[in-house]
Amino acid sequence: MTIRTYKPRRGRVTPRQASALAIEDGLLLPLASSLLDVNDIWGGRPLVLEIGFGTGASTIDTAEAEPETGLLAVDVHTPGIGDLLFRVRRAGLSNVRVMEADALEVLRDMIPVGALAGIRSYFPDPWPKARHHKRRLVTAEHASLIASRAATGATWHLATDWAPYAEQMLEVLGAHPRWSGTVIDRPVNRPVTRYERTALLQGRAITDLCFIRR
Ligand SMILES: C[S@@+](CC[C@H](N)C(=O)[O-])C[C@H]1O[C@@H](n2cnc3c(N)ncnc32)[C@H](O)[C@@H]1O
Repeated sequence: MTIRTYKPRRGRVTPRQASALAIEDGLLLPLASSLLDVNDIWGGRPLVLEIGFGTGASTIDTAEAEPETGLLAVDVHTPGIGDLLFRVRRAGLSNVRVMEADALEVLRDMIPVGALAGIRSYFPDPWPKARHHKRRLVTAEHASLIASRAATGATWHLATDWAPYAEQMLEVLGAHPRWSGTVIDRPVNRPVTRYERTALLQGRAITDLCFIRR
């Protein structure tokens, strides 16, 4: 059985999200077993993968601030996907594509080797209970998969509000032969996400980390 990094959630889809999901304009890429034509889709822009965008607010801010970057935003939560599609169209952004899928499957089946210039994982599910740690996004196995799809020099930026998970990120990626990096100051250009706002209100400290693909 595959171990998932997320808990399947139903979540009510609003009429606005449903109509955004129904438009067929190529913004929502289907899950497939063939490689994406990265140059064609993003017009030669360097490609950044965002794993688990939630409501997509940070995706929109980043896409607007970095029009020269191509963004592939992947999440499994249907209402958030509807929201992001709506916002991308409203903002007229041409550098974003969205997928409703397990990002690990997308990485394995659809991202060409060495194609990613960057990876962003903002507040991956913390899975606090010890028996759930195997579900975390940051494991040695996932780090190897991501490294294989990343170009040399690509950056993997992570943020978490869960101190023990930050330690695990440091431990796993610090020991990985393909990644080198550490804790960094919060980058000024990282948008505050919805999840982060809640964490701050609840008094949890945020850790940002950045690793470079060797
Ligand atoms: C804690 S939320 C954080 C969302 C957002 N980045 C934020 O900061 O508000 C984690 C998100 O990761 C998504 N997620 C978890 N595992 C995933 C996977 N393997 N592929 C795609 N999305 C995933 C979840 O559906 C959820 O939306």
